[in-house]
Amino acid sequence: MLTGQKIVLGVTGSIAAYKSCELLRLLIKRGARCSVIMTQAAQRFVTPLTFEALGAESVITSDWDQADCAIPHIEATRDAKLLLVAPATANILAKAAQGIADDVLSAAILAARCPVAFAPAMNTYMWHNNATQRNVAQLTQDGAIFLGPDSGEQACGDVGSGRMLEPEDLIELMQGAFAPRLLDRCRVLITAGPTYEPIDPVRGITNLSSGKQGFAIAKAAVLAGAEVTLIAGPTALKTPAGVRRIDVLTAREMYEAVMEEVPRHEVFISVAAVADWRIEKPATHKIKKEFTQAPELTFTENPDILASVAALENAPYCVGFAAETDNLIDNARAKLYRKNVPLIVANLVKDAMNKDTNAVVFVERDAATPLTKATKEAVAQALIAKIAQEVS
Ligand code: PMT
Repeated sequence: MLTGQKIVLGVTGSIAAYKSCELLRLLIKRGARCSVIMTQAAQRFVTPLTFEALGAESVITSDWDQADCAIPHIEATRDAKLLLVAPATANILAKAAQGIADDVLSAAILAARCPVAFAPAMNTYMWHNNATQRNVAQLTQDGAIFLGPDSGEQACGDVGSGRMLEPEDLIELMQGAFAPRLLDRCRVLITAGPTYEPIDPVRGITNLSSGKQGFAIAKAAVLAGAEVTLIAGPTALKTPAGVRRIDVLTAREMYEAVMEEVPRHEVFISVAAVADWRIEKPATHKIKKEFTQAPELTFTENPDILASVAALENAPYCVGFAAETDNLIDNARAKLYRKNVPLIVANLVKDAMNKDTNAVVFVERDAATPLTKATKEAVAQALIAKIAQEVS
């Protein structure tokens, strides 16, 4: 996606400027042509020479002393696919929101003929300040793209939102700037992965779902412009950049988390392989082998999360999945009616569970549309396009 594309990297005065060097290196490695615009403050953290040595086609530091370019802030984004300001301080957001153009970077933002993206980097109190949030809202309304911020420990020792995303995550999210924003600002809730039902404090019942399909859908939704909440059963998968994740263990915990979150969402995609049954009374102590008799387990039914959401008065647009071993379409359609949802994504266990690829059929009341076998990322993109058609 980046090969041959011109990306302009705006760098402002934040300690996160050191991450921009790695960002530039990765962009160039992926085939992008990069120019850099640095503010005065940025040059206190890293030097123009660093970016030049890493392969930047040009590094603009001022409107006044560029020998090879008459009007740097106008020329900088000519033919550019994206102007990415990373790190973006509270100051540059405030200037961009007001249209202030008092240095080469803020002037280039005002003159940009390409999409502008910001990767915020600032102290968490500065990020949460009403003034910054007003500027972010204004810039979003004006069409700017926000990548992050991340949360965690900050250079100043505070903890919270405001960290610049890691370069790899930024590059992943930047693809969204090139992709059509099919679900722009749509709030999407997704469940993924297996659930785990305890037998005793060390043993339990689970299944082979890896979470890969659900995580791929979360990533595709973010790239399509959605605000995504991902409720994940036990899996070691990395959270896709830009996704808000809630971890759960059991089906009941997943149910509670979904019911808490669902009123704020417009689309619900139930990808998780949820246990239909749980052990009625899990042992509170480890069951010992010395008790020669095999333990007898009594099961009780778990709540059906998807059916419960679909039955809500203000239900979001609901998509279910069905993993079957046989009679794929008939079984999937039976689930569609039983759970009262408009779309079920049907897949065979052997094609889907814990695999990197998937072969799915979109099953609706009056249609069954098979997709060719593809990576889970490609299946996710096709599903997001389908959902966008249905909800727009
Ligand atoms: O995680 P991966 O390794 O990538 O594998 C992906 C997958 C195979 C898990 C996924 O593609 C898939 O098919 N998920 C659904 C698994 C399944 O068999 O679901 P089900 O037939 O038990 O349930 C049908 C639907 O109801 C599903 O949307 C499920 O999330 C939902 N459900 C089921 C039971 C329950 N108690 N609550 C639910 O919400």
